[in-house]
Amino acid sequence: MAQLIDGKAIAAQVRGEIREAVSAWTALGHRPPCLRVLLVGDDPASASYVRGKQKAALEVGIDADTLTYESDISEAELLRIIDRLNRDAGVDGILVQLPLPAHIDEQKVIYALNPDKDVDCFHPANVGRIMIGEPRFLPCTPAGIMEMLRRTGIETRGARAVIVGRSNIVGKPMANLLLQKGVDATVTVCHSRTRDLPAITRQADLLVAAIGRAHFITADMVREGAAVIDVGINRVEDASRPRGYRLAGDVDFDAVREKAGWITPVPGGVGPMTIAMLLQNTLKAARRS
Ligand code: GUN
Repeated sequence: MAQLIDGKAIAAQVRGEIREAVSAWTALGHRPPCLRVLLVGDDPASASYVRGKQKAALEVGIDADTLTYESDISEAELLRIIDRLNRDAGVDGILVQLPLPAHIDEQKVIYALNPDKDVDCFHPANVGRIMIGEPRFLPCTPAGIMEMLRRTGIETRGARAVIVGRSNIVGKPMANLLLQKGVDATVTVCHSRTRDLPAITRQADLLVAAIGRAHFITADMVREGAAVIDVGINRVEDASRPRGYRLAGDVDFDAVREKAGWITPVPGGVGPMTIAMLLQNTLKAARRS
């Protein structure tokens, strides 16, 4: 039976440390770190994530506010808003919640961010810096996973890490962090075209599931004793729940926990760590500016 990696508890510990660091920063006479979150449209999942980010930021003493826009806002208008925040010396971090409506080019929006305020670490300049081992910010979800592994004492040196999913937000930056000197994992990235996926995932000491499909990773795909990190947050219909759905990870939790050595739950695993790392990046941005 796997040991549970309690992301919720670890994230609370990290947030406590950030709260103290923010206090120490403002005690020196600096204004509190300032985060502006941009939410476009009315996607309920995005609205829920953004509420969680703002609440967590306020709780550690960050000046956080969410700017919300109708889904028909033009790309040009959104870019103007970003430009204004880029040049506002009172703003340290800017986060544009994704996905954006189809008529807005996400890449264009990401390129428009001032890299010094890009607390999501999505700008190509920041992504490139991770790749060469000179990060300005760390990408929130992969950094949250690294922090969870460190604080749980899971060894990455020489470990075989298999990442399932090649997104720009999780899969690719996760691979880069695991490859860094000192982390020293041997990394394989799998995706929808990977041949005989289970044969590869079964070799993993560390398996990171970031596919976006509920219960995709089944017990037969997991090596006995492996550490299994579940990045998925999928809504699955469940008439017994008040909202009509429940959250499910990319891992078939009940079966895989019988076989794995370590496993993260959903919810309460990677999600809270992602938010904690966003707060850390915001503090870092404030200290740098
Ligand atoms: N959408 C899903 N995950 C994320 C994230 O980490 N940051 C932003 N901005 N949008 C997201």
